[in-house]
Amino acid sequence: MNMVELIEKKRDGQALSQSEIQRFVKSYTAGEIPDYQVSALLMAIFFRGMDRAETVHLTMAMAESGDMLDLSDITPYAIDKHSSGGVGDKTSLIVLPLVSSFGVPIAKMSGRGLGFGGGTLDKLESIGGYDVNLSEEEFRRIARETGIVLSGQSKSLAPADGKLYVLRDVTGTVASLPLIASSIMSKKLAAGTNGIVLDVKLGCGAFMKTLAEARALATAMVQIGVDAGRDMVALLSDMNQPLGVAVGNALEVAEAVRTLQGGGPEYIHDHCVEVAAHMLRLAGQGERWSDLTQARVDADQRLKSGAAYESFHRMIAAHGGDVRQIEDLTRLPQARLRHEALATASGNIAAIQADTVGWATLALGAGRATKEDDIDHAVGIEVHASVGDSVAAGDRLMTIHANDETRLSAALDLLNRAVEFNDEPVDPLPLFYGVIDGNDS
Ligand code: URA
Repeated sequence: MNMVELIEKKRDGQALSQSEIQRFVKSYTAGEIPDYQVSALLMAIFFRGMDRAETVHLTMAMAESGDMLDLSDITPYAIDKHSSGGVGDKTSLIVLPLVSSFGVPIAKMSGRGLGFGGGTLDKLESIGGYDVNLSEEEFRRIARETGIVLSGQSKSLAPADGKLYVLRDVTGTVASLPLIASSIMSKKLAAGTNGIVLDVKLGCGAFMKTLAEARALATAMVQIGVDAGRDMVALLSDMNQPLGVAVGNALEVAEAVRTLQGGGPEYIHDHCVEVAAHMLRLAGQGERWSDLTQARVDADQRLKSGAAYESFHRMIAAHGGDVRQIEDLTRLPQARLRHEALATASGNIAAIQADTVGWATLALGAGRATKEDDIDHAVGIEVHASVGDSVAAGDRLMTIHANDETRLSAALDLLNRAVEFNDEPVDPLPLFYGVIDGNDS
């Protein structure tokens, strides 16, 4: 193939054909195109964009660059969720067992975190023995026997995306809407799902800062899924303040367990019930849960009855995790130092900057600045207040869990700037800003 022609075509703002995109992805995955030419093409896409058809062709080509998982022996309808990530986002730990407690099979592969905090796998590894590196055989066996499996992503899934992502990362081409949408969706489509609920976060702690940006990304991903024959829903949710109280791996596992047992912060409970209700609606295929209100009532009941917790317990045991650590949360990794940050004046909380809390958590060692970094599962921050709360001087705002004095003081320097006050009353932030339904796309 003539790569120069392809680069020039995109540079001049023309659309690439399906066969051009397929040949490019295939040849690059096979190591037949040099990185400098692919970098030039990525930059041309960054500036010129891609239309709906091009984006779908790119997604399918990346999905088909490796194994396409077939889950039909596990379930006739595989449902998945994807969150675009945020500070304190432990939604998967709660929503997946919750949905599985209805007998809806969950067979999910998840990623690790880079940046602010750990990903779902890092959080689960707070539990001693939890094995995220399953062979495909083990993955299928646990899914069949337990009804829920949550493991690391197989390297043979969408390898073209892995290669392209590394190049985007070092060529300033990550923040391109068609490239982000196709990257995320290629992995979802290769993972064998029929229905996908996307939880697209927006705000200072998210990739997408504004409602308009988040809506555009969510719409692109929903369109890709619909064109590829999947049932799609995207929720646009808030990430201006941390999601829930706990930020940090073991702290988030503990909060997830409390929520699965019917407790936990209201924000987390309500967020998870909403995501689960949409998953049930898709998986229920038009029966009881076609009514979202009924699905919400049922999901809330499963949390309160302990059924969702039992499903989580079964998953941890099946993955070889030490269940005593979730039966007694004090057995989870604990940090050596605890520092209480108190309000220095009375007022109404106008902002708790999620990004600043995220960077402070990274400073404590809870996340990775580079792929090779080790993470400390015990450290993190509990944020005891939310936007809109009234506090008095001396009230506890945050508890910082640290294992090292220098890191604690670096985190405190950042956190001093995280909370803003107002004398006037402040409205609480909404949990959700909108829903994009694939049926309308
Ligand atoms: N997550 C992905 O998987 N890909 C992107 O491009 C951005 C976020």
